[in-house]
Amino acid sequence: MANNRQFLYEDVAQSVTCMINDGTLSPGDKAPSLRMLGKQLNVSVATIMQAYEELEKNGLLKARPQSGFYVQASAPLPDSAPRWRSTQAAARKVQIGAHMNEVLASARVPGVLNLAIANPATELLPVKALNRSLKRVCSARATEALSYAPIEGMPELRSSIARRSIHLEHPVNPDSVLITTGATEALSLCLRAVAKAGDIIAVESPAYFGVLQMIESLGMLALEIDTDPVDGLRPDALETVVEREQIAAVVSVGTFNNPTGSVVPRAAREQIVTLLAEHNIPLIEDDIYGELYLGQQKPLPYKAFDKTGQVMTCSGFSKTIAPGYRVGWIVADRYLPELKDLKLISSSSTPTLTQMTMADFLADGRYDRHLTRLRRACREQLQVTRRAVQTHFPVGTRISEPTGGYVLWIQLPRGMDANQLYRDAIAENISITPGALFSSTGKFRNFLRLCAGQPFSDEIARGIQRLGQLAERQRTLKNPIQ
Ligand SMILES: Cc1ncc(COP(=O)(O)O)c(C=O)c1O
Repeated sequence: MANNRQFLYEDVAQSVTCMINDGTLSPGDKAPSLRMLGKQLNVSVATIMQAYEELEKNGLLKARPQSGFYVQASAPLPDSAPRWRSTQAAARKVQIGAHMNEVLASARVPGVLNLAIANPATELLPVKALNRSLKRVCSARATEALSYAPIEGMPELRSSIARRSIHLEHPVNPDSVLITTGATEALSLCLRAVAKAGDIIAVESPAYFGVLQMIESLGMLALEIDTDPVDGLRPDALETVVEREQIAAVVSVGTFNNPTGSVVPRAAREQIVTLLAEHNIPLIEDDIYGELYLGQQKPLPYKAFDKTGQVMTCSGFSKTIAPGYRVGWIVADRYLPELKDLKLISSSSTPTLTQMTMADFLADGRYDRHLTRLRRACREQLQVTRRAVQTHFPVGTRISEPTGGYVLWIQLPRGMDANQLYRDAIAENISITPGALFSSTGKFRNFLRLCAGQPFSDEIARGIQRLGQLAERQRTLKNPIQ
């Protein structure tokens, strides 16, 4: 095989490592049989065997005579992964809104290289197929498309969303789906359904800034819970907090976390859902990146372990089909009546035309075929962007290695200031998201998030190289003797 290409067995080993990292396979699970995986990946049994032997050497799989291969342990934390100290934060007001608006607005200025906003590039979206769906709806159901949709959403769209969980042990019932105007409205409705001003919301540390901004504007308090760079929200840290504090709700991006890329393993999810059920605390799950997995299958959502109706799962099509269509949803049970009431006063209903168009697009295999292409693009973009950062950023920079989604979490060497890097970069028309936006406590000052939603180009390559130079300049100014 060519020098710069991986061997086929290495690709297979990487896919299986992704399945272990993202919790599809847990310690003790039997790995897929050689024959089955060979068929799935369209490679020979000998190649799978070579991959499994490699994974055994690395301590991830163990062969059991007459039985097959079993998962040994989680993949070790890569040396290059970002790390952060545990916190014992107290609940506090959030004050990131103004800074966040400035960063987002500057990324949207024409001519600015946008590495800040987690958007898929338009060339990766199914523009033609979606336009065909739109035309079909406009010609066949024009009058209906002009009317208000039901508060809970168009029945055909709710059914299509529910059908996507048909393979789960407890598939979603279409009656549990409430269509929203993007995942943003979904998250906001969930927060307002279960909490009020002054209440404490437990969030991950770091947390998606959109949720922090909602907490800020709703006058709630954020309490940051420790996370692991690879395994996300830590059940032990959450347990300590729920036993000590009166928590109104927990918000978690359990799958391909924004910004860290972490995935909460299956066993930890079950533990978290059980813990919160015991304490009667609602869990607001943000699953917006769930479909963008690079392994073999989508990690199970928290909702799959929900026996009490405690979990509300928010998601949408903004990261996969069309951010501008503003179609999202909530899967909920217990809190559905409150959510519907709030939806009515929030926006009455989500636009009928975009709902009908999405439903038409989802009606056959087009979405899955599109997702296969999109995942391939994400994998490639993440790999090349990571490599560019590793090449150009100062020695000592750490970078996440996500198994899905398209954001990268970068840790600059100690003492460096990503807010300063943001200011230096935006002065040269390059936008990044400084890490401080992902915390209510001012943590993560030497972190930044880069989005790899655009196909890699010369312009992006130059932008990352320049970012590296600006970071290096800052490092030298801070440590002139080095
Ligand atoms: C974790 C997360 N949740 C929710 C959203 C908002 O999604 P939407 O555009 O559908 O409102 C985003 C967008 O960046 C996100 O990253």
